[in-house]
Amino acid sequence: MKIVVLVSGGGTNLQAIFDAIDNGSITNTEVAGVISNNPGAYALERAKKRGIPALCVSPKQFASRAEFNDAWLAAAQSFSPDLVVLAGCLVVISEAMVHAFTNRIINIHPALIPSFCGKGYYGLKVHEAALERGVRVTGATVHFVDAGTDTGPIILQKAVYIQEGDTPEILQRRVMEEAEWIILPAAIDLIANGRIQVEDGKVHIADYTFGTI
Ligand code: GRF
Repeated sequence: MKIVVLVSGGGTNLQAIFDAIDNGSITNTEVAGVISNNPGAYALERAKKRGIPALCVSPKQFASRAEFNDAWLAAAQSFSPDLVVLAGCLVVISEAMVHAFTNRIINIHPALIPSFCGKGYYGLKVHEAALERGVRVTGATVHFVDAGTDTGPIILQKAVYIQEGDTPEILQRRVMEEAEWIILPAAIDLIANGRIQVEDGKVHIADYTFGTI
């Protein structure tokens, strides 16, 4: 399975994908390319170090959002991917792209959807909201991308307990280490090995025991 990974920042989720391919926990998968909307994204350096095509398609290069959206979609399609992975990607995916890759785009969100998600909930803001609400458990979610924001069929989730003294930065790091970097590679491997079916907006995983990762 060929994947293209869309990124905006440090690329720790991208690195988790690379590491999982190297240690065999992701099989049948090749990262064909990495695309960022942010020229300064360290994720691009991670791709270059690995000899993987790394493109920057920035909104600043275009006169309108529509032209950026077209170029963003064309860049993803240029790798002929079987799966598009949003890994720390802050670009709002256009309806045209969602339709071009129906149930073939996945996203990692740093909370247990439907909590702390939707418009305005990204990066540290998600963890600030969880701490503000005083929840005991947060975590991460991998889901298919549909036309909404964080509303597509859920594939995997993993819980992380909040501890006394957590700051948004401490919590973000723990959610990445204990959840994101585990369930995103796991979801990619399941898809690469034909273990995922979407029926009536729900994801079914064959022969899978939840909570084991
Ligand atoms: C992190 O906040 C992560 O929770 C979210 O995107 C941000 C950066 O991720 N998914 P990365 O290090 O660029 O993968």
